[in-house]
Amino acid sequence: MKIDSIEVGNFRNYDSARLDFHEHTNILYGDNAQGKTNILESIFVAGTTKSHKGSNDRELIKIGCDEAHIRMFINKRGISHRIDMHLRKNKAKGIAIDGIPIRRSSELLGMVNIIFFSPEDLRIIKNGPSERRRFVNLELSQLDNVYLYDLGEYNKVLQQRNKLLKQIMYKPSLADTLDIWDEQLVLYGTKIIKSRTKFLEMLSEIVTQNNVKLTGGREHVKVFYEPDISVENFSKKLRDTREKDLHFCNTGVGPHRDDICFMNDDIDIRRYGSQGQQRTCALSLKLAEIELVKKIIGDTPVLLLDDVLSELDRNRQNFLLESISDIQTIVTCTGLEEFIDKSLALDRIFKVTNGTVQIEK
Ligand SMILES: Nc1ncnc2c1ncn2[C@@H]1O[C@H](COP(=O)(O)OP(=O)(O)O)[C@@H](O)[C@H]1O
Ligand SMILES: [Mg+2]
Repeated sequence: MKIDSIEVGNFRNYDSARLDFHEHTNILYGDNAQGKTNILESIFVAGTTKSHKGSNDRELIKIGCDEAHIRMFINKRGISHRIDMHLRKNKAKGIAIDGIPIRRSSELLGMVNIIFFSPEDLRIIKNGPSERRRFVNLELSQLDNVYLYDLGEYNKVLQQRNKLLKQIMYKPSLADTLDIWDEQLVLYGTKIIKSRTKFLEMLSEIVTQNNVKLTGGREHVKVFYEPDISVENFSKKLRDTREKDLHFCNTGVGPHRDDICFMNDDIDIRRYGSQGQQRTCALSLKLAEIELVKKIIGDTPVLLLDDVLSELDRNRQNFLLESISDIQTIVTCTGLEEFIDKSLALDRIFKVTNGTVQIEK
């Protein structure tokens, strides 16, 4: 798929702006705090309904305004589609595809495939497990609508169960109702574990290949799923830890505690890898996303690169640029000097200054 254009109104530091994108490489450049990332964020919101930073709708609306709008035209398999989003301060956002309102964000996720790559992603390996779970959830949700649904249900049940654990403190007779929630938690949790197992298998193969290429064959990294509990013993473990859960008013076991592990031979890169190894792994992981979208969806995703090029050394930059030669990319950077003597053809250039965008090429 390709993004043809984006229009924003009262979004972050923009009054209004419109950008028409080239089907290959687009550059947004300008000083810090001018609004480059905000444009990428608007694209990500229009494609996934969520901010890549996890910001809520209120934060996306220009300070002093009550609502914001985003309109994005995409082209999918030769057909043009219009996505409209209307963000409001205290209400759920309104979303329409081709003028028809939609109720579930999954309708959008099945249509738009966007991969966002920021310097924070370079730290995904060394950060805590919650970041890696976020990565898996975001990815799998884009690739699999059923997963998105199961995850939503699991999180709802988890919240309800935790709420009930607190209530039981004051009203012990409620403890009888825990069984129903446990059953539901196991039902959806099992689906999640199975999906993640399959996903990690596919991901692992591609990450290993990428890593071999990135290190000239010096490293053989493997990615493993580290489930908190297995499908077989989820039920039992939940029963065994019930006393503890009641004490802490919190569900201690389940896929909300999962992690993924990166090993180079027998070295756990999360803890013992050098910064270079961790970055190489993160890059391999992000590039694997592109492959998986191509393989599973049968379409090319759009890649948003926020300030990452300057954080990579030449070898990794080159590998990244080679890997994205056939997909639409929107890149932000502070200066165009970064691109001199790179193999990246700059098809369209926008200059971003204080909430305005000027096309330069
Ligand atoms: N809701 C908002 N309303 C108005 N301005 C905002 C809002 N959110 C962020 N900004 C402003 O946007 C600017 C940051 O934009 P950003 O896209 O992150 O810059 P950069 O060009 O460095 O990527 C800052 O000046 C910030 O104050
Ligand atoms: Mg930025």
